[in-house]
Amino acid sequence: MFGRTRGSAAGRGRTTSFAAAALAAVLALAGCGGDGGSGDSSEVEVFSWWTGPGEAEGLTALQALFEKQNPGTKFVNAAIAGGSGTQAKAVLASRLKNRKPPDSFQGHAGAELLDYIKAGQIEPLNDFYDENGLRDVYPKQLIDQITYKGNIYSVPVNIHRSNVLWYNPGILEEAGVDEPPATIDAFIDALKAVDATGKVPLSLGAQWTADHLLENVLLGSLGTDGYNALWQPGANWGTPAVKAALDDFAEIMKYTTAEAASTDWQGAAKAVVDGRAAFNIMGDWAYGYFVNPAPNGLAKKLGTDFDYAPAPGTDGTYMWLSDSFTLPENAPHRGGALAWLKTVSSKEGQDAFNPKKGSIPARTDGDKSLYKDYLEYAITEWNKPDIKLAGSFWHGVTANNKWHTDIDTAVGLFLQHKDPAKLQEALVTAAQNSGQ
Ligand code: GAL
Repeated sequence: MFGRTRGSAAGRGRTTSFAAAALAAVLALAGCGGDGGSGDSSEVEVFSWWTGPGEAEGLTALQALFEKQNPGTKFVNAAIAGGSGTQAKAVLASRLKNRKPPDSFQGHAGAELLDYIKAGQIEPLNDFYDENGLRDVYPKQLIDQITYKGNIYSVPVNIHRSNVLWYNPGILEEAGVDEPPATIDAFIDALKAVDATGKVPLSLGAQWTADHLLENVLLGSLGTDGYNALWQPGANWGTPAVKAALDDFAEIMKYTTAEAASTDWQGAAKAVVDGRAAFNIMGDWAYGYFVNPAPNGLAKKLGTDFDYAPAPGTDGTYMWLSDSFTLPENAPHRGGALAWLKTVSSKEGQDAFNPKKGSIPARTDGDKSLYKDYLEYAITEWNKPDIKLAGSFWHGVTANNKWHTDIDTAVGLFLQHKDPAKLQEALVTAAQNSGQ
């Protein structure tokens, strides 16, 4: 129970003077009590986009643990449907603008979080980190991604991997593809081979899944250093190397399913395990969906129903993203929010959440025995001393919200005109206007 908070009247116990208690009350009301302040813990409204299968189960597990630990706090699930937060982020932006924040919301570590920080929409959590001994339980490079001007601003719950190629072994065999393609060229050959069988080569869902594919093709084609360089200030997107990567993207897109444009990522992922499509490139939340028990999960078997490999051309690199929870300025139930963040930050919380979510704990001390099969691979890769890191742009690490939206608009237009040269022009402009 998160009862003892620094700066709260309760924390100072009997020595609290009347004047200090009155000041604390005023500060709490003004919403500027610092992250150690107490506050209403009757409720916590938690905002995310984890509603669908493969998303909701992790949140449900975390909620159950939270409710057990905080029987007096009502958990209000304010999740808004739509993979990768496509709808949720718009709703969140308007709530924050209208000063009607939830008590805690999901924001990706990195550039996305920086937007909220710079807009003054979330509070620093330094005291929370100190009180809960959290400064050393996360990898340093992750803390760097949630720190601005010396202050830490969120509580990461996991690490997801973006660059995973999910495939149907039976369809590959039928198409005469002996092994999952390790390069972009081999991938294109494999897509052609599957096409000849009449099966769908590469499944795609809602438009954002094309953005997700784009980040994977950029990484696979440009290599890790080339990909990472794209997100540096003043980066040049007009190079022949980027053009070659976009040509690859255009070629790969020829083998995707147009009719799946209205389905979300679940529909596209399911096509692989159902034997309708050979490949899907998706983050490892798909793994939770594949293996979680029915009725929410698909209860499929790794090795027979589906298998995985690094996205083509990306072996040795972890394209990562991290879901993290925040304390908004003026959170109506600040005590509830801090209690929620405590559960999110705990080893127990992360080990309840991640095996269901298809991710690995952000903390370095998770119980490794809980992460089996694909997740064992993920945890091993993440911890390899020589693993290279690339930040997912679509899932908030390297691109701020404006850049993210501008790239999405460019990709949306590309889905109509299908011209990689025009796509490149739009991406050059998006980079120039990103303000990053
Ligand atoms: C990501 C998020 C993941 C997962 C995915 C699909 O942006 O970080 O946790 O929810 O979207 O919706």
